Amino acid sequence: MSVNKKVLITGASGYLGRYAVKEFKDRGYFVRALVRNPEKIKTPGVHGEPAVYDSIDEVVTGDVTSADSISGICKGIDIVFCALGLTSPDAHLTSYDVDYVGNKRVLDQAIEEKVSRFIYVSVFNEDKMPEILTIKAHELFVVELKKSGLSWAVIRPNGYFSDMGRFFSMAQSGHIFMAGEGDKKINPVHGADLAKVCADAVEGECCEIPVGGPDVYTFKEAMELAFNACGKNPWITELPLWLAEGGLMVTGLFNKNLADLLSFAVEALKFDHVAPAYGSHHLKNFFEELALKK
Ligand SMILES: NC(=O)c1ccc[n+]([C@@H]2O[C@H](COP(=O)([O-])OP(=O)(O)OC[C@H]3O[C@@H](n4cnc5c(N)ncnc54)[C@H](OP(=O)(O)O)[C@@H]3O)[C@@H](O)[C@H]2O)c1
Repeated sequence: MSVNKKVLITGASGYLGRYAVKEFKDRGYFVRALVRNPEKIKTPGVHGEPAVYDSIDEVVTGDVTSADSISGICKGIDIVFCALGLTSPDAHLTSYDVDYVGNKRVLDQAIEEKVSRFIYVSVFNEDKMPEILTIKAHELFVVELKKSGLSWAVIRPNGYFSDMGRFFSMAQSGHIFMAGEGDKKINPVHGADLAKVCADAVEGECCEIPVGGPDVYTFKEAMELAFNACGKNPWITELPLWLAEGGLMVTGLFNKNLADLLSFAVEALKFDHVAPAYGSHHLKNFFEELALKK
């Protein structure tokens, strides 16, 4: 138990952020949480992530793209845990605006307040996808963090169960279009398991921590698991990667922000994402729980 220490959690309404609120609270921290909409955290998230409003000591409503709204956010804080990110397309904002500039606004205040540790969530395999804009933005921030003078940790998860939830939604509709052959491997991690790694990262040397979950699947196997959980025969159509990339280029003509985010999903299917295994939650159970809710 870490009584009396104060943690700021940004992205506290997100998939990982909610589990982080629970984990830090269970460890005895005073939790200040930055959210854009406090109502959202009064109910569970769509992938089973918990309602956390009652676990938070101080809810701050703000948006990292508006400097005034987050002024003083690090006052009196010991640990900053940043799990916010632009993970779905926005008509006006880019990854650079949120993942780099937005997080940098929090970092600048953390430096001023001399917080004792700053923990940031970036991505695994970043070196294999350096041109993807969301990864560029995350990594620009990592550079700033490393030169901040603060004690830091960078968590590098390979993929969350919530991401695999997209396979489940498509399986429920009866059909999945898959870019490539789906033969590359991943061991995705549950938010609760990842939150433990993040909270453990409060201690120790400055470091980068790659994180995956306990079970390794090919992307195609993960899709088949989703079909099985919803009691449907797997119906998966392979799209050649060149066709998927062509589709992205066309999408980019109409909606650049959407194309940028989708390009991450397509690029990620080109190689394995097997990271050191943590945790005890299994993807099969996660899909079965989603099936029970429908
Ligand atoms: N999903 C994956 O597989 C994966 C893998 C590796 C790394 N990551 C990284 O891990 C981080 C968390 O991912 P996640 O899946 O938990 O994301 P998520 O569920 O989409 O949550 C994102 C959080 O960021 C908040 N946010 C977004 N823009 C904001 C802004 N301008 N001001 C304040 N808050 C803002 C969201 O608030 P609202 O609730 O108001 O939207 C939400 O709380 C991201 O940086 C992501 O890139 C994700």
